[in-house]
Amino acid sequence: MVDLESAADTLRSGGLVAFPTETVYGLGADATDEAAVRKIFALKGRPADHPVIVHLASAAALGDWAENVPDVAYALAEAFWPGPLTLILKRRAWVPGVVTGGQATVGLRVPAHPVALALLGRFGGGVAAPSANRFGRVSPTTAAHVHTEFGDAVPVLDGGACGVGLESTILDLSGGLPRVLRPGAVSAAQLGAVLGEMMGEGTGEALSKPELEQDAPRVPGSLASHYAPHTPTFLLSSAVGVSGARDAVLARRPQAAEAARWLSLPDDPDAFGRGLYAALRDLDASEHARILVETLPETPAWSAVRDRLGRAATWQLEPESGSPVLERGVPEPKVVPVRAGPEKLEETR
Ligand code: TXA
Ligand code: MG
Repeated sequence: MVDLESAADTLRSGGLVAFPTETVYGLGADATDEAAVRKIFALKGRPADHPVIVHLASAAALGDWAENVPDVAYALAEAFWPGPLTLILKRRAWVPGVVTGGQATVGLRVPAHPVALALLGRFGGGVAAPSANRFGRVSPTTAAHVHTEFGDAVPVLDGGACGVGLESTILDLSGGLPRVLRPGAVSAAQLGAVLGEMMGEGTGEALSKPELEQDAPRVPGSLASHYAPHTPTFLLSSAVGVSGARDAVLARRPQAAEAARWLSLPDDPDAFGRGLYAALRDLDASEHARILVETLPETPAWSAVRDRLGRAATWQLEPESGSPVLERGVPEPKVVPVRAGPEKLEETR
């Protein structure tokens, strides 16, 4: 653990600091210092072409990092910052390529956590920070999670458990129509309300359509396998009942079948999202054969949680006709890949 002043000093001298945000813990470096940002990639084992988000103390710094900033960006900043929204904008020419993944854009966000804001205020510049986990793994929502990832390799500012618990919504404003690249706590409907007002009703409506999210360009952050536990993780279609004595289950209902562990999260998207990563880490820490996760409602309110679970899961269990929901123990269910491809299984395991 570390105090704010020495954390700011560490950033100034080119070191890494893990810090809390309202979404997940970030692994931060001075965003103007290429060598410092490279240390993030080395520690995470993250491919060099993946851009990192730059965290700012306030929207007043937007123009230092981005050019041709559209009015809608300021309107969204006004509405949602500090908060769980990242804006992708055209970068200024000076912004280091290591931050932008060599792209012409930069991701910017003002986080809402008081410790993050205090650190950013003291440091006085932009802090490049991905989630503070090894590449492809479950994001940390407590200081202890960060310590599990990196041991004593980085100092961690402890700000308690993250209030949102899922990564920020990413909105691309770099050209053409605004696009949600990653769903999060700021919903497409909330964005649409602001955008629709400024850009015409059609824009807001288009943004709220889930197809648009799926059409989004495949930025590195939309990798199929991400946020993944080590234990093979399966999504349970609501039509199957499969848990067995060696399985761990994550569900919205109380225990309804045989299982080695049964963890219930609230049947509410915000509360479920807040608890999701800690639950996956908890279930992953024991030697279970599989983690079985009950699928979630197909409503917009659940889209961020559904997105993360879809990436955490290795397989989707195929419904067996007529079998009751999560009630029967069936030792060897028929499984089909969530997304075909042995690489995915390899990567996730
Ligand atoms: O809530 C969050 O966003 C957390 C906290 C720490 O702020 N950060 C986070 O960072 O989730 P990371 O690196 O794990 O995910 C950021 C995603 C990456 O997948 C990256 O591809 C995308 O944002 N991203 C960053 N800059 C981008 C850019 N210029 N264009 C497109 N995607 C970008
Ligand atoms: Mg991440």
